[in-house]
Amino acid sequence: MSDSLLVAAVVAREHAFAPYSKFKVGAALEDIDGRVHSGCNVENATYGLTVCAERVAIFKAISEGVRKFRRIAVAADTEVLTPPCGACRQILWEFCGDIEILLVNLQGKTETYRLKELFPKPFDVSYL
Ligand code: THU
Repeated sequence: MSDSLLVAAVVAREHAFAPYSKFKVGAALEDIDGRVHSGCNVENATYGLTVCAERVAIFKAISEGVRKFRRIAVAADTEVLTPPCGACRQILWEFCGDIEILLVNLQGKTETYRLKELFPKPFDVSYL
């Protein structure tokens, strides 16, 4: 795995709190200054309170005052690479616009998308 952002997502995945689904996900969000903000999924016995890895990474960065982002990597242990869920796509659009999204699995298989490909007609502030 040559790209350190992919490695950061795989490492973040190790911190996942996923005792219910056993489905561990890691995310690594690169900001405009090259800093990396990591996240993992955090589940809860009240299942609906679960927060995905991507949103944890974004909210950590936002809460640190970071506002400009370049790329996000998402790591999961699946043969067909795991993309961000719908809720995360909406949050990504709000804070990152048409960001580059790298998907990776533990074998090092990768795919790259722009958010617009995965989320072609987003709702945002322009409608308000
Ligand atoms: N999950 C993520 O963290 N990110 C994704 O992109 C897909 C799903 C988490 C939520 C939940 O903890 C588990 O994976 C199963 O849905």
